[in-house]
Amino acid sequence: MSERVRRAVCPGSYDPVTNGHLDVVVRAAATHDEVVVAILHNPAKQGTFSVPERVAFVEHAVAAAGLAGTVRVEAFADRLLVDVCRDLGADVVVKGLRGGTDFAYELPMARMNRHLTGLETVFLPGDPALEHVSSSLVKEVCRYGGDVDGLVPDEVRDALVARLRAG
Ligand code: PNS
Repeated sequence: MSERVRRAVCPGSYDPVTNGHLDVVVRAAATHDEVVVAILHNPAKQGTFSVPERVAFVEHAVAAAGLAGTVRVEAFADRLLVDVCRDLGADVVVKGLRGGTDFAYELPMARMNRHLTGLETVFLPGDPALEHVSSSLVKEVCRYGGDVDGLVPDEVRDALVARLRAG
């Protein structure tokens, strides 16, 4: 008898991945057979990093965490998360919550996804040590010369400095 694979999706824009994102991915990998980091993007909107760059940052961090066999990274343009999850055969969406603001943002999306296809969302409490870490804040701090060491992987820190402080 074949056992059902429990496949979770960790969706986001990951522009760029932070150590907060990675904490959630690692914990999702500990509780599921497979995890897909789904980088969802709108091609009409230009991010700080290109989609291939975002994918590479996550792939390198996942490999460094020894999770390349459990976690894979895929990018999706202009797709509903529920359709992505259906195509991937994913049971559940896993997202981290840093606090009440995240909850207010995430709850309607979780309810909408459940309304659309029954897709469930599991929320993991964010690590309090990373509560202040978001892609947008890290970019702002870096742009104006602040130190983002320890908030993102070293490769991402170096890329942020090169991208945001150049010129
Ligand atoms: O990095 P973010 O901003 O937390 O990511 C939000 C994201 C990309 C996960 C969310 O906007 C999303 O699921 N977008 C895909 C389009 C979609 O399904 N929209 C309806 C959500 S109920």
